[in-house]
Amino acid sequence: MTARWTLDTQVFKENIQHVIQGQPVMAVVKNNAYHYGLDFAVAAFLSAGIDTFSTTVLHEALRVRELAPDATIFLMNPSTEFDVLRHHRIHMTLPSLAFYEEYQTELAGLDVHLEFENLLHRSGFKTFDEMREVIRLNEQRPEHEQMNITGIWTHFGYADEFDVPDYAMEKAAWLAGLGEMLEDYHFDYVHAQNSASFVRDGLFSQHSHARLGIILYGSRPYSSLDETITQQALTVSANVIQIRELKKGASAGYSFAYTADHDVKIAVIDIGYGDGILRTRSKHDCLINGRRFPIRALMMSHLFVEVDDSVKPGDTVILYSNAIRIDEHTFKGVGANSEQLSALNHHSLKKEIL
Ligand SMILES: Cc1ncc(COP(=O)(O)O)c(C=O)c1O
Repeated sequence: MTARWTLDTQVFKENIQHVIQGQPVMAVVKNNAYHYGLDFAVAAFLSAGIDTFSTTVLHEALRVRELAPDATIFLMNPSTEFDVLRHHRIHMTLPSLAFYEEYQTELAGLDVHLEFENLLHRSGFKTFDEMREVIRLNEQRPEHEQMNITGIWTHFGYADEFDVPDYAMEKAAWLAGLGEMLEDYHFDYVHAQNSASFVRDGLFSQHSHARLGIILYGSRPYSSLDETITQQALTVSANVIQIRELKKGASAGYSFAYTADHDVKIAVIDIGYGDGILRTRSKHDCLINGRRFPIRALMMSHLFVEVDDSVKPGDTVILYSNAIRIDEHTFKGVGANSEQLSALNHHSLKKEIL
């Protein structure tokens, strides 16, 4: 018996089709494909007809190139490994006028996508006029010294917020500036929308791709969406290894981790924070034999769960599945979807891909 991280390939693949509905999508596979595994995810996306990928680090982009020789691969963070990028045909963000000024010679022959900073203020050109200036400077160079400006993009910081005007503001700024750019220039790749923006607005006109992450991986980007919009293919499960009885007032776990306020049965479960169960997650229930029971204490390799007579040693305990989802816990304040996913310890959990 051991705690498990189990991924249902069929559900994962069906979900991709269900989410994208035939729309052109750039799959975000950063951080080892949201911790689902880069090799697994790229294969699944390819089989669903997605042939455009983005990540933040070069070594992941290079792995995607090995897995998908014909794909378009977009590096969302800048890199100065210009020869490697060129050799492997990896497109890269052009994150600022200053970056262009510093590296204009080295950028020759590279495919770049101009990035608009907008309200996230993480990276990108401050203005569309700065982008026009770079296009002008690039065109002044001899052709073989020019970079290929094949794309333009931005990232929204507020698409999953509803009670503030910021999404409307960043959207308006982007669409207005982009519209003017498209009157004068052509870009093969125009991409802005994350999962929340794509679900709210559908693919914007004049955009070549939606740039989706979390919804492809089975979690809702905001809480007012129905669960059926995306299916979670991942199950994290463990086992009841013992049942202990505690009298009212007795404590269990290190340093009085749990003190019984009535006579209780406690199931000892073989999973803990060492396996990536967040402390915030341990404030909520788990699922045993189709019923929810409260977690009472979290240790490195164990949980205590308050149970009744129906629960027996050997029963399976579900921490996450499509019936007790990651996104449900996101909306309860446990942490972002990707934060819960990223915490899971693939070295201690037994990894099963069905
Ligand atoms: C630049 C960029 N684009 C797209 C995404 C995908 O966002 P989501 O997972 O909300 O779809 C991310 C994720 O953080 C990102 O950083």
